Amino acid sequence: MQRQTRFWQIIALALPVTLGASFAQSPRWTLGMSQCNLGEPWRVQMNADIRKAAESHPEIRVIFKDAQNDNLRQSAHVSEFVRQKVDLLIISPKEAAPLTKPVADAFRAGIPVIVLDRRVMGNDYTCFIGADNKKIGRAAGKWIAAFLKGQGNIVELKGLMTSTPGQDRHSGFREGIAGSGIPVIFEADMKWLEPNARKEMESALARFPSVTLVYAHNDPGAHGAYLAAKAAGREKQIAFVGIDGLPHEGLMYVRQGILAASFEYPTGGREAVETALQILNGKPVPKELTLPSRVFTRDNIDKGGEWLKE
Ligand code: FRU
Repeated sequence: MQRQTRFWQIIALALPVTLGASFAQSPRWTLGMSQCNLGEPWRVQMNADIRKAAESHPEIRVIFKDAQNDNLRQSAHVSEFVRQKVDLLIISPKEAAPLTKPVADAFRAGIPVIVLDRRVMGNDYTCFIGADNKKIGRAAGKWIAAFLKGQGNIVELKGLMTSTPGQDRHSGFREGIAGSGIPVIFEADMKWLEPNARKEMESALARFPSVTLVYAHNDPGAHGAYLAAKAAGREKQIAFVGIDGLPHEGLMYVRQGILAASFEYPTGGREAVETALQILNGKPVPKELTLPSRVFTRDNIDKGGEWLKE
């Protein structure tokens, strides 16, 4: 009898502890993360950065969806998150125009929205987080003008021109090289993809017997151009410059001497989680969070690159 009482006493004492522990573990908030594609290393890194930052916050859980580079699929994902009533939406949209309405609908339905890296149109979102692509483009232009010392000609391989980083990396770059007298002899939209960049570079090489430098809007593009030049036996006459600066991609190419420079484009994954927590905890956040960027070259890579000024 006494033993039985002791048993129930133990249960009575242990129960609240067990229940409490399970409550503490079950997340209070659900975040939806809509990624435009996972075919590129930079986006895999962005998701990994979000996952890592979220790990130390048991009060949130993140549901990831991959739109596989399809605007319609991404827009459907946003609507699914709204129907699911997620507490907050993070989106890295494929293209500005097609994703503007789904994002605005989610925002107007009362879901806080963090837009990451590529923009949407208008103001119907809570916070935009990303590096300044115009500044990166301008810095790349100035760096290239100095590197070429006024001599030579350039091939520009553009990112998807219906996405805002492509537009800004282009216009910034043109500002950066303005007045240098160095012509851009060939330009094409490689839509951020290495195989497209390689094909476009094959055309450029076929048309122009002299190419001095390739400015590609991302490192996969610069690498695709390098592969085309190598296949044509012309890679040693050309310098390649890209953007992203991932340790196992752009920075590795810089170390290997494949790229002359890579400009860092931070994923913003950690900052997105930090901002999400501020929003969910009722704290004010800025409408725009601009992340800093560095340039990495062979000379400065071991010192951690050089921060872009201005
Ligand atoms: C990956 C990517 C990056 C680029 C970014 C721009 O999809 O193409 O290489 O920096 O998107 O949004």
